[in-house]
Amino acid sequence: MVRHLSLVFCVSFILACTFLSKCDAGDDNPKLHIVYMGSLPKTPYSPSSHHLSMMQQVFVENDSTNFLIHSYKRSFNGFAAMLTNHQKEKISQMEGVVSVFPSKNLQLHTTRSWDFLGLSKSVKRNRAIESDVVIGVLDTGVWPESDSFKDEGFGPVPKNWKGSCVGGKNFTCNNKIIGARYYIEDTARDLNGHGSHTASTAAGNYVHRASLFGLAKGTARGGVPFARIAAYKVCGGLGLCDSSAILKFLPRKF
Ligand SMILES: *[C@@H]1O[C@H](CO)[C@@H](O)[C@H](O)[C@H]1NC(C)=O
Ligand SMILES: *[C@@H]1O[C@H](CO)[C@@H](O)[C@H](O)[C@H]1NC(C)=O
Repeated sequence: MVRHLSLVFCVSFILACTFLSKCDAGDDNPKLHIVYMGSLPKTPYSPSSHHLSMMQQVFVENDSTNFLIHSYKRSFNGFAAMLTNHQKEKISQMEGVVSVFPSKNLQLHTTRSWDFLGLSKSVKRNRAIESDVVIGVLDTGVWPESDSFKDEGFGPVPKNWKGSCVGGKNFTCNNKIIGARYYIEDTARDLNGHGSHTASTAAGNYVHRASLFGLAKGTARGGVPFARIAAYKVCGGLGLCDSSAILKFLPRKF
């Protein structure tokens, strides 16, 4: 009977150890988290100093400023920070915190051609109306010199366009690419290719005799070839789109 009991104890001890090491001991390196705090208070309030003071409470020994990645202060209240599980738990308990969740790396996907969707090259178009449309693309940026984005035949920027071209290093807009910003890296230039692909799928010019090393020869074009494009880089050169960068885009400021 005694032997039987000790055996049971031993088995449950092993189970408990396995469970604990999975939950706790294993990996507690700091990871990028988003601390969501709901809407901004209506009263005068300094988000950055509030966020920093919250961080200081969980970084007792170290300088927390290096771990606070971004303070969101335009359309909602919250911040992005490198946090261990332990720090994440402590911040989750703080007043005003709605939720704390890991910043996800979203994978890039591609689209199929407009013919596949039944929108043939010969559909009737109204250039004047189309060229007043601005399509915002959140991706890896854009390569403005590509044939899909040349501004030949495009008039001046639409009058109601309130956005800006702040493309950073080695980036100039034209009358086709009329807006740009970058929320990751130092330029809105597309160093990956995906953003140019999606932007041209949405609104690329007609490019005749396009092919991929001779394959799929034909005329490349976007769904709305005469529309303008505003490119916002939220995905990096490695093709990862961090939600903390996407969230920086959210506010009204285009
Ligand atoms: C402070 O930083 C050091 C080195 O990065 C780390 O080993 C230590 O765990 C940190 N301490 C706290 C309380 O975060
Ligand atoms: C700068 O832009 C030009 C295109 O105008 C491009 O050929 C060149 O590779 C770019 N340089 C860098 C460092 O990206």
